[in-house]
Amino acid sequence: MSEINWTRKDLLSLEELDKEEILHIINTARGLRDISNRSIRKAPALRGRVVVLLFFEPSTRTRTSFQLAAERLSADTIELTEKMSATRKGETIIDTAKNIEAMGVDIMIVRHSAPGSSKLIAENVGSSVVNAGDGPHEHPTQALLDIFTMMERLGDDLSGKKIAFIGDISHSRVARSNIFALTKLGAEVHLIGPRTLLPGSLKDYHQNVHLHHHLDKILPELDVINLLRIQMERQGSTNFPSLREYNKLYGIDERRLSMAKPDVLIMHPGPMNRGVEISSAVADGSQSAILEQVSNGLAVRMAVLLLVANAVDPSILAKA
Ligand code: CP
Repeated sequence: MSEINWTRKDLLSLEELDKEEILHIINTARGLRDISNRSIRKAPALRGRVVVLLFFEPSTRTRTSFQLAAERLSADTIELTEKMSATRKGETIIDTAKNIEAMGVDIMIVRHSAPGSSKLIAENVGSSVVNAGDGPHEHPTQALLDIFTMMERLGDDLSGKKIAFIGDISHSRVARSNIFALTKLGAEVHLIGPRTLLPGSLKDYHQNVHLHHHLDKILPELDVINLLRIQMERQGSTNFPSLREYNKLYGIDERRLSMAKPDVLIMHPGPMNRGVEISSAVADGSQSAILEQVSNGLAVRMAVLLLVANAVDPSILAKA
């Protein structure tokens, strides 16, 4: 694993990171996992720093995991949701961010429905900004924890591995961030779904991105299957006849799993729609890494917080 001199104040997208930066985050996360297994699950690295969680869209995993990560590193945390904030009274997101910065906040974790919102904030404040999902654009820490999980299960070298994303690719910030990172790591990315949810332009991004409309043909070749939720909230109307039809063509249940490699890894960023893109038997089965993804997210987010705060202290990193 490579070691680099991290200089970024923000983490906004994986499109802008190079391979060494991605591997550096993963390597740092590996060194931090041990903190969660100690009897006192805390390290002092961010003591005296303040992290604000600015969440303008719902979240269970990302918000909780960032808060836990910050508190495990001894930072103070504040949460501000859309409901609680003065953006409801017409304040712009930039004014909100500048006011928060004026209170001495060091790191802002931002989730917002508008693509580019985190970047806009980062350009207007001196505090560090981490993108926790900007509409359908990117979700960098989700892709990093996905890749961390794949490396734990398949080994560090993902080159040539066939990694699939099935479902609502057109609205998926998770798929986009993964595409940017996985192609840099040499993996083959297979995007599978109905034509209405699979923008043809994605195949032009990289020679290792492949588009498929028929799942069963490519299924036996896949090393990893990432299932994606149909994002009803981002669609004007459904882009396919019915959820039942979608499940029949693209849902992964035990019958379909039996057509895949015996050791294929099943992943899902959550939240899951059980019975639509994934059956309960598969979600809770032995090949599922879904809860491992969530656990790994904590270490990845601790790493990101330390790196953007320029506060990595080698003495708190366990030997990987
Ligand atoms: N994967 C993910 O972003 O989940 P949340 O929406 O619960 O944060």
